[in-house]
Amino acid sequence: MLNLPDFDDHEAVTWVSDRKSGLRAVIAQHSTVLGPAAGGCRLWSYGSPEAGVVDALRLSRGMSYKNAMAGLPLGGGKAVIFGPVPADQREAVFEAFGAAVERLAGRYVTAEDVGVSVSDMQIVARQTRAVSGLPRASGSVGGDPSPYTARGVLRGIEVAMRQADGRTDLEGVRVAVQGLGSVGGALCGLLAERGAKLLVADPHPDRVAAVCEATGAKAVPLDAILFQDVDVLAPCALGGILTAEVIGALNATVIAGAANNQLADRAASAALAASDLIYVPDYVINAGGIIVVAAEYLGGQTEADVLDRVDAIGPRVADLLARAAREAVPVDALADQLAAGLIEAAR
Ligand code: NAI
Repeated sequence: MLNLPDFDDHEAVTWVSDRKSGLRAVIAQHSTVLGPAAGGCRLWSYGSPEAGVVDALRLSRGMSYKNAMAGLPLGGGKAVIFGPVPADQREAVFEAFGAAVERLAGRYVTAEDVGVSVSDMQIVARQTRAVSGLPRASGSVGGDPSPYTARGVLRGIEVAMRQADGRTDLEGVRVAVQGLGSVGGALCGLLAERGAKLLVADPHPDRVAAVCEATGAKAVPLDAILFQDVDVLAPCALGGILTAEVIGALNATVIAGAANNQLADRAASAALAASDLIYVPDYVINAGGIIVVAAEYLGGQTEADVLDRVDAIGPRVADLLARAAREAVPVDALADQLAAGLIEAAR
């Protein structure tokens, strides 16, 4: 592990095996400097144990940066469970995972991520209190983070368009949304309310049909959505979609979407830096979800407090874009530098 390029002096990486349930998992705590290492649990069928470890290392560092930039008193962590998990073992697997989280004594706080649902987290919660993303109790904040993520992405798009051409509204702005899941679907609703013209794609025809009917969006083939002639490209599906080649072929002005780890590699960062594109770093614009998850876990906040914090993503993105332009530095590198600086200053 020490030789993996994604190892970044992570504080602890725990391998979890439970023979009885069949659970195999990795829990990576990148940093607890700002608070408990918080980040979701992903269930995925990795090609090899190493691929899962690499994902946990990369994603946990991303959570440290995301939480730091969002001003949350949380460090960064992430868990991966190695799939597939047979349906009749699922409950036992998440019970065992909850017990493993509990053994970390509050230094890692889990929640849902790809492949994991609220009901899985309810099973985890039988074993540990270091869990968030549970159903919202009446009168408290929390629940499904996706609408909050979508709202934060909207705020980022608004300020990026202001920077791009001085616009103060989104009337008639053309946006291509890749992925119409929990976040992409909600984002389309928010954009349509503001008069944006939407182009959308998703492998699920029912999701495409529902969004087109609700928002007047036009459906585009999956392999064409990234390359539309639009003001904004909003990736809300998978990570790693922006390769140098893709970046060279884009017809957008702004890239601003929810997907984690949009830039495939260093070559993609370099291609971005050499282009005229305005890129809003993914972990800055998509922090709405962790903001509400943190409020649920830490307590003491109202819904209005949470919405204020999510809306603050707008000015944060504006500052970041303005500073990157002023200093003529790549915005993704600047965000990494600022996030790492916040953690170091707290250390
Ligand atoms: P989701 O699983 O609900 O939706 C993803 C959608 O993308 C699905 O509808 C899927 O069919 C579609 N999709 C998959 N491959 C595609 C392709 N090639 N082209 C077009 N669409 C494709 O996931 P969710 O929760 O909406 O998250 C979307 C992205 O945002 C993910 O990358 C996630 O990591 C990230 N994110 C989500 C947050 C949340 O609050 N849910 C918070 C922060 C980041």
